[in-house]
Amino acid sequence: MRRTPIPVAPVMFVKPRRAPAGPVQAGQTLRLHVMRYNPADPASMPCVQTFEIEQSDGMTLFMALGEIREKQDPSLQFDFVCRAGICGSCAMVVNGRPTLACRTLTRDVGPEITLAPLPFFELIGDLSVDTGKWMRSLSERLEAWCHVEEKIDLRRIEAPMDPDLADRIFELDRCIECGCCVAACGTARMRKDFVGAIGINKIARFRLDPRDTRSDAEFYEVVGDDDGIFGCMSLLGCEDVCPKDLPLQTQIAFIRRKMVREGMS
Ligand code: SF4
Ligand code: F3S
Ligand code: FES
Repeated sequence: MRRTPIPVAPVMFVKPRRAPAGPVQAGQTLRLHVMRYNPADPASMPCVQTFEIEQSDGMTLFMALGEIREKQDPSLQFDFVCRAGICGSCAMVVNGRPTLACRTLTRDVGPEITLAPLPFFELIGDLSVDTGKWMRSLSERLEAWCHVEEKIDLRRIEAPMDPDLADRIFELDRCIECGCCVAACGTARMRKDFVGAIGINKIARFRLDPRDTRSDAEFYEVVGDDDGIFGCMSLLGCEDVCPKDLPLQTQIAFIRRKMVREGMS
């Protein structure tokens, strides 16, 4: 284990130390260069700590970090819940690219692996960030729920929905709120109130839903400014890194066209 002090807070992308990455054979040594910092500890200094472990078949970054925490440093902070690419909590910057650690095989990104916390979000410690607080405030800002006018009667049989439309809504609903798209977005790095591709995707999802009675004028009130759709500079890092392969580029272009039309009417 080796600690290398660095003079900056761990909120920026880190270039891989050595390229190219993978594939790594079982038994080979992996070197994980992990950004360490605990903002709750006044004595903590941002630094990169290097851990060495042995590659095994099928090893994911989740397994590698778990082994390090178990056998080398119990203070290492990182988040995992589902380990299956569903909860979105394990997103981190792996060799300079935001992605899900539980879905990343070490053999594909090693033997030298650089890990950093997602930028943009509040750092809890080491590789752990608080995406939940930001996601919640985003949902509140965008009012990301179905706005219905009639009174809900839970005893009534639900109105059927056209299966194709249901599929289109489900396609956008696959977002797991991991935060990778926001971490990869240059606009979000400059504009702290930018809703990001995830926000635009949410608007596209509810605009598509026939149960949501909001008009385009009402959606314009929510995203018709530079913190919304007009702040997006079409950098497309969001779509590049989205682990669920959501069609973010298409949704951004579509909502932008609708909001331009609304703004001009
Ligand atoms: Fe993650 Fe993709 Fe959702 Fe962004 S749109 S939060 S990258 S799943
Ligand atoms: Fe950012 Fe994606 Fe737009 S990376 S600038 S939200 S196209
Ligand atoms: Fe849930 Fe990785 S632990 S997505």
